[in-house]
Amino acid sequence: MRHGHNPSTLALACNSPFVRSRPRESLQTTSDRAIEGWRTLSSVKEDYFGEEVAARYDDDGPMFSAEVIGPTVEVLAELAGDGAALELGIGTGRIAVPLARRGVPVHGIDLSEAMVAKLREKPGAEEIGATIGDFATTRVDGTFRLAYLVCNTIMNLTTQDAQVACFENVARHLERGGYFVIDVMVPDLRRLPPGERYVPFNVSETHVGIDEYDVANQGLISHHYTNRLDSPPFRYVWPAELDLMARIAGLTLRERWADWDRSSFTSESRKHVSIWERDG
Ligand SMILES: C[S@@+](CC[C@H](N)C(=O)[O-])C[C@H]1O[C@@H](n2cnc3c(N)ncnc32)[C@H](O)[C@@H]1O
Repeated sequence: MRHGHNPSTLALACNSPFVRSRPRESLQTTSDRAIEGWRTLSSVKEDYFGEEVAARYDDDGPMFSAEVIGPTVEVLAELAGDGAALELGIGTGRIAVPLARRGVPVHGIDLSEAMVAKLREKPGAEEIGATIGDFATTRVDGTFRLAYLVCNTIMNLTTQDAQVACFENVARHLERGGYFVIDVMVPDLRRLPPGERYVPFNVSETHVGIDEYDVANQGLISHHYTNRLDSPPFRYVWPAELDLMARIAGLTLRERWADWDRSSFTSESRKHVSIWERDG
């Protein structure tokens, strides 16, 4: 049995296979510890993208397909125009490399030395600057026409304060009139019945994926069972909340689409691509 392609399977594709292996144990035990872990994470920056994850990150098929990368790069190149772009969580350069190939100067920030080392191996990466650090706080030289944060990566910041700090950090780097783009799932709470905390999002012979919601803390742990258990913590965030963070940082919403193909965002949309503009 396979459940449909939803934002969590997207998260699976690009933003989840990044927690250290650990032996199998009961979900209950694991999740209780994971909830504690993600409370602790409020103040600690952890690198979930170490050598092992970096080594297999680019093996993921769908997120590296032309159907996904083409429209993403198209939108970002248009927004960058003749300016420069800053990617938060640049990773192995899945988007940065083709964007740079389009002639856009790209600089990236990432916590993971291992992911950036993979980026460095790619042809064309010599044109791309990269700074190791937390994208919520790290400053880099220069100003940018465009900043972007894709693949649900805003949710890797597991507190509201850190997510707000990220918007403020972006605003400091943007030119007046510059754009900030986020690509993130809509929290899937419509699938969570009262009293429940688990939402299965993918069940196949090779993978069982279960999202665990902590509604009181706006927390989300994606449990992935393959031949091991991965349970990375996230903080899910609502579109309207992102708009408020943007306002705090001096940015105004310009577009909200259901996807990179610029389709309309509706009540049924499972993800969104949102564009805010830095106020003049
Ligand atoms: C899901 S990957 C996305 C990589 C790339 N943007 C892509 O689209 O393939 C998330 C990346 O964000 C980085 N990351 C997560 N939290 C971070 C933080 N607080 N500061 C800097 N980088 C972070 C990870 O190291 C990882 O490389």
